[in-house]
Amino acid sequence: MDYYVVIPAAGKGKRMKAGMNKVLLELEGRPLIIHTLAVFESDTFCKGIVLSVHPEERMEFKQLLTAHQITKVCALADGGKERQHSVYSGLKVLPPESDIVLVHDGARPFITKETITLLVESARNTGAAIAAVPVKDTIKKAESGAVSETVDRASLWSVQTPQAFQKAVLLAAQRKAEEEKFLGTDESSLVERTGYPVQIVESDYDNIKLTTPEDLYFARAIIAKRNESQV
Ligand code: CTP
Ligand code: MG
Repeated sequence: MDYYVVIPAAGKGKRMKAGMNKVLLELEGRPLIIHTLAVFESDTFCKGIVLSVHPEERMEFKQLLTAHQITKVCALADGGKERQHSVYSGLKVLPPESDIVLVHDGARPFITKETITLLVESARNTGAAIAAVPVKDTIKKAESGAVSETVDRASLWSVQTPQAFQKAVLLAAQRKAEEEKFLGTDESSLVERTGYPVQIVESDYDNIKLTTPEDLYFARAIIAKRNESQV
């Protein structure tokens, strides 16, 4: 059940409007990225973490890893212009013995070990698996502000990370995307366009990505709920 994880953390956090890389924002006493890293740090099946960071922020991240006793980061990769570039940069420095690889957003701190385990199992058996939750809202397509279609919600999933792959499957998809200059918002989209089937693992609604300022309220509420249930 062993795996490695690539965590992109080299974004700018523009939509968070905090004037800084949002993964470095403090959330209940520790930076957001430390919340995310701590889950993998404490998972015995995680054999190593590759963290993709802005070259200018490299020192800051190094100091945080030491201060918060995160020991499993085996490499800091240089983040790129787009998330996909940051992930590819991380994949290239994975140790040769890595087999199952997860990609997980640095800004998604509430991932559970249960979901990680299900993803690793599925990726081992099938090659590609992604975390997702059923869509709650009714989704409509619109053109110029007028509804053109109501999409059948039963077949819609809201996709998250981690996304888990056999390394060869993901590397082949990344290479093809690079050659064809295709830019996707997740790794699954790159794998899908190679024709390789991707399995869905049902995750939970707590596994949010902190994207806009109101997500900080939700994050604090999730932390409070978890603290209460531990007492
Ligand atoms: N990311 C990255 N390299 C980039 C862009 C994003 O490593 N060039 C990372 C972010 O740090 C984040 C994850 O990918 O952990 C998900 O991206 P997103 O939520 O879009 O974060 P940002 O790009 O930082 O935010 P925004 O799009 O609002 O600027
Ligand atoms: Mg972004």
